Amino acid sequence: MIALGSDHAGLPLKKEIIAMLEEKGIAYHDYGTYTTDSCDYAMFAQRAANAVVSGECERGILCCGTGIGISIAANKVKGIRCCACSDCFSAKMSRVHNDANMLAMGARVVGPELARMIVENFLEAEFEGGRHQRRIDQIAAIERGETL
Ligand code: RB5
Repeated sequence: MIALGSDHAGLPLKKEIIAMLEEKGIAYHDYGTYTTDSCDYAMFAQRAANAVVSGECERGILCCGTGIGISIAANKVKGIRCCACSDCFSAKMSRVHNDANMLAMGARVVGPELARMIVENFLEAEFEGGRHQRRIDQIAAIERGETL
């Protein structure tokens, strides 16, 4: 199950991703927004991020104008590692090295075909573990307020 979220600016790209997930038979839950009325992205980022952290959804995909604001908001939720990506290599490596559980993209940055490829890379790549797990554990320690 994939958690989706966007603001008004990211909505067209989220719709493209929904079409892609439906073509592939991948289940998703869309946490809004659902209209092009101007809105603030933080609440939608939080709702989708909470679904990932609770285990209700395995991963999440967020869209706003740049992918930046919504990724920053999602990363405020404990346990979220959300990467704003505009290329396939970064999307793949966000999984392989960083065990990213959310991907963010900007509708004003990437076109629909590139976005589909980015999503494919994000969904197909697996975390490598090993020395990267230690680094993820250090990020979690920062979240707990520990000094490294
Ligand atoms: C909305 O205009 C825009 O600021 C927002 O979608 C996003 O790009 C912020 O990071």
